[in-house]
Amino acid sequence: MDALTTRKKVWIQTFGCQLNENDSDKIYRVLGRLDYSATRDPAEADLIVLNTCSIREKAEQKVFSLLGRLKVHKQQRPQTLIAVAGCMAQLLGESIRRRAPYVDLVFGTYTIHKLPEMLREIENSRDSAGSGVVAAAELNQADFDFLPLQPEDLLHPGRSRNLVVENVTVQNGCNKNCSYCIVPKVRGREISRDRQEILAEIRLLVSRGVREVTLLGQTVNSYGRKTEYDFADLLEDVNAIKGLQRIRFTTSHPRDLNEKLMLAMANCDKVCEHLHLPLQSGSDTVLKKMYRGHTFNDYLQKIRRLRELVPGISVSTDIIVAFPNESDQDFAETLEALRRVRFDSIFSFIYSPRPYTRAATWSGQIANTVAKQRLYQLQELQAAITRDYLHKDLNKIVEVLVETSNKSPAGLPTIKHGRCLTGRTRNNRIVHFDGCESLIGSLVNLRIDRVLAHSMQGQPVNQEGHKRRQYVH
Ligand code: 5AD
Ligand code: SF4
Repeated sequence: MDALTTRKKVWIQTFGCQLNENDSDKIYRVLGRLDYSATRDPAEADLIVLNTCSIREKAEQKVFSLLGRLKVHKQQRPQTLIAVAGCMAQLLGESIRRRAPYVDLVFGTYTIHKLPEMLREIENSRDSAGSGVVAAAELNQADFDFLPLQPEDLLHPGRSRNLVVENVTVQNGCNKNCSYCIVPKVRGREISRDRQEILAEIRLLVSRGVREVTLLGQTVNSYGRKTEYDFADLLEDVNAIKGLQRIRFTTSHPRDLNEKLMLAMANCDKVCEHLHLPLQSGSDTVLKKMYRGHTFNDYLQKIRRLRELVPGISVSTDIIVAFPNESDQDFAETLEALRRVRFDSIFSFIYSPRPYTRAATWSGQIANTVAKQRLYQLQELQAAITRDYLHKDLNKIVEVLVETSNKSPAGLPTIKHGRCLTGRTRNNRIVHFDGCESLIGSLVNLRIDRVLAHSMQGQPVNQEGHKRRQYVH
């Protein structure tokens, strides 16, 4: 009997961003067609896949440390196949097997659909002792395929999320070439997915109960660039899909945030009042060396316009500290940028030199002690701003799309039985509350009665006949 037709178990560990999570879903889908089922226990897996990230060195270290632990596992269970997928696989290719020779398969971000062939090749070439044999590491961008979703994929047990909120990849790759960033190297040039395929996929998701979609791309708002149909047009078409209640998108680039897109965000009622717009630095000197293609003032003007058009919109960002030659003055300008823009939240990172990037070759790398100190200062300042925003919501009524039921986080005394429902407001704040699991997937109005470090707690109000799509801010 063909070894691949028996029911086998796969365990996938995903590192990195939402695009990787989405790729892991695709891997599950491809494997589901081979009759693999997902397991939560790596010890019982026939196939272990590490879907990796290489954006910062730390991400790579995590993968190698997990691989180190898997070495013992492989010695005890040599028949278990170990695969390394994703960005590190794309970047390092076969050299991963030099550091971890017990890895059976390395496959990049573009070759997920070739997984069946690759697995078959390994199965066929296994020696009698059952140990893995060198597998083809196909890292060819020309083979890239968006792998359209099939109805049966939605029922696959490996799906990482519930069927309330879903990610839909609309674009892959990046044409921007920021001087610190490895993404263009590992994800290649920008490719926008066919709009009919995107719309069909979202309709399918909605027909199965999905209420919110997040459109994904490395620079998602440059979707369809230089064609007649751009990201604003896509938002309008997605907005017209019946049954869908909310639309989000990430990640945007400031250069591609134009008036047309801001107007579409204002006019499309399903587009949530939240924008993630990486700034990276508040210093024009640093922005220039990063090749970001805009100044801080350009950024600020766009945010001001957006706030005029979409009142109450929350804005989050990414900041890199300790970019080569970042002076105290440059860093002070980043702190000042936080005070002026008043982001709802930030993701902050210490600059990490990456291979194949221009900045990695530059002198003026900043000492780690200084970098850590800057990161700490930045996060302290932002924590106060975030706290301020959350406190402003106290006693207000917000509309929440209920996503999950979880163990109650510590410090939520009004939530009984140690479990709580969790959802997000339209402007992306996380709210916990006590309620029946049947509410998952519906919109509820909650009065905020407690503020936690990064989230809030609320009480349901007017549960019956609440007004849909009303957000009070
Ligand atoms: N070092 C630190 N942070 C980085 N990012 C991208 N490349 C690097 C790097 N080399 C950050 C940017 C980006 C986010 C996804 O990761 O802030 O927006
Ligand atoms: Fe990297 Fe810049 Fe592209 Fe973002 S826009 S993925 S930071 S190169």
